[in-house]
Amino acid sequence: MISSNRRPNEVKSYSTLAGIPFYNFGMPSGFKAYVDQIVRVGRTFDFHPDDPDSAYTPLVRGKRLIAVISRGDGGYGPGGRNEPLNHLDPHLRTVFSFIGVEQVEIVAAENDEHGGTALADSLDSARRRLLRLAGGRSVCRSEHG
Ligand SMILES: Cc1cc2nc3c(=O)[nH]c(=O)nc-3n(C[C@H](O)[C@H](O)[C@H](O)COP(=O)(O)O)c2cc1C
Repeated sequence: MISSNRRPNEVKSYSTLAGIPFYNFGMPSGFKAYVDQIVRVGRTFDFHPDDPDSAYTPLVRGKRLIAVISRGDGGYGPGGRNEPLNHLDPHLRTVFSFIGVEQVEIVAAENDEHGGTALADSLDSARRRLLRLAGGRSVCRSEHG
């Protein structure tokens, strides 16, 4: 319990870098457990039952999530052949925006099951995007088990 109670403070204090494998079109159970620890009433959002038009207030300010996703297949990005099956990106944007995380950056490395140039090209593009997001500096890692 001590550990799970610290999670909301972490997400309010730091931006988050998360590595997330793509499982069955969504997030793996371990990361879902983390989400359930940080989306907490009175900690990362407030709930006003008497005001149904504006019942929720986010309590996180000015933070960013960089989610690095690994996928076996490809084409899950915008306009891709598998985009309709991608339930992870919208879920991440919904929950992190809901608590007030202002920027949700999703970087995907795809085609791990195909290998070859499809994988190499996707890894290269993910690395370049991460470098841009880091402003050319090394990216610091934050662990969320
Ligand atoms: C339980 C499970 C479900 C998976 N579901 C999908 C999927 O729906 N779509 C996909 O493209 N890849 C899927 N994969 C492949 C993984 O996303 C891919 O191999 C990823 O790189 C795994 O990272 P990991 O080795 O850290 O688990 C799945 C893999 C596992 C083990």
